[in-house]
Amino acid sequence: MKKKGVVIGILALLLFSCLLSKKTAFISKEFSLPEMVYETENQITKERIALGKKLFFDPVFSIDSSISCASCHKPKYAFSDTVKFSPGVFNRPGIRNTPSLMNIGFHPYFLREGSVPTIEMQALIPIQEKNEFAHNIVEISKKIQQIPEYVTMSKVAYDREPDHYVITRALGVFQRTLISKSSKFDSYMDGKVKLTKSEKNGMAIFFGEKGNCSSCHGGFNFTSYKLTNNGLNENYEDVGRMRATKDSADLSIFKTPSLRNIEVTSPYMHDGSMVSIEEVVSHYNSGGKNHVNKDSLIKPLHLSNSEKADLVLFLKTLTDEAFVEN
Ligand code: HEC
Ligand code: HEC
Repeated sequence: MKKKGVVIGILALLLFSCLLSKKTAFISKEFSLPEMVYETENQITKERIALGKKLFFDPVFSIDSSISCASCHKPKYAFSDTVKFSPGVFNRPGIRNTPSLMNIGFHPYFLREGSVPTIEMQALIPIQEKNEFAHNIVEISKKIQQIPEYVTMSKVAYDREPDHYVITRALGVFQRTLISKSSKFDSYMDGKVKLTKSEKNGMAIFFGEKGNCSSCHGGFNFTSYKLTNNGLNENYEDVGRMRATKDSADLSIFKTPSLRNIEVTSPYMHDGSMVSIEEVVSHYNSGGKNHVNKDSLIKPLHLSNSEKADLVLFLKTLTDEAFVEN
């Protein structure tokens, strides 16, 4: 009798450790840093990073030399902005909330509607937009070709004058270096820190059936980059992906954003209409508004007040202090 109990005990232990290692293997694979892919002719070098960084912070891009990429993508806020719509040149208001650029090199497509295929091509958009830089890359190239420091840096980095090719490539290389992977959550996954009981509860809601957040915000960057509608409004001012495709199935479809550093990237959503994480969680808890393209995964969650609070606490473990302070 006693022997049988011991055998069952050992079997149970074996099963438990099997389950445990399966779980850790699954999680560590899902959350390990993906490989950064550079274009064949635009491999990373320190000279290219330095040139891209200098360009990113240089107001030479705007028609009146007033603003740079960093005026909207502010390093302190994980390269996003604190206002609903960042103003462009001559204080012209924007039409979408400035997204964070951390881990941007992992994105499979760009803009909130996901219509631009490469980070290099993306740079041309703010340059030309009337309410961003209102400029053009040929004129900008001419301007920086008059600056000896740029000419030297460009020759060293790309073996040519600073032109449209160099500008877009160097900005691409610099932006791919903006990597955030050291949040409290990451330290927890590495077994270095513990999460509080509330944070763990929030994590279970996030990844489990209760919240189902990870079906769109899963994986290393807390997004599957799914192009979808999360029921923010019944009627949107912004047609979303339909702007590019002209297909009504894409009406108000947006790219699922990363949730890393979400604590510092307020306001939220494509239109910056939500200010706090609490507001976002209440939105999902309600099941959202009935938009024609609302994703079937968005439905009432029936979370209690303390569950909502725990979910918010978990989302705050995604803040990478080192990245934000750097
Ligand atoms: C006036 C504010 C402003 C300036 C200046 C600006 N951006 Fe942006 N950026 C935005 C906004 C707003 C969006 C979202 C646009 C959209 O979805 O239509 C965006 C989108 C992006 C994206 C795509 C993000 C994603 O999640 O797909 C990248 C990359 C980017 N900007 C890089 C840059 C670079 C590089 C510069 C400088 C050459 C720059 N931006 C200048 C406001 C700005
Ligand atoms: C069906 C896919 C889907 C599910 C499920 C989902 N989201 Fe989202 N989420 C999105 C999309 C799409 C957006 C962007 C909407 C927009 O820009 O208007 C978004 C935006 C957000 C934002 C704002 C991010 C930013 O930078 O603006 C937060 C925070 C967020 N979701 C948290 C959650 C949480 C928490 C859950 C679970 C309760 C969840 N999401 C479930 C698709 C989803």
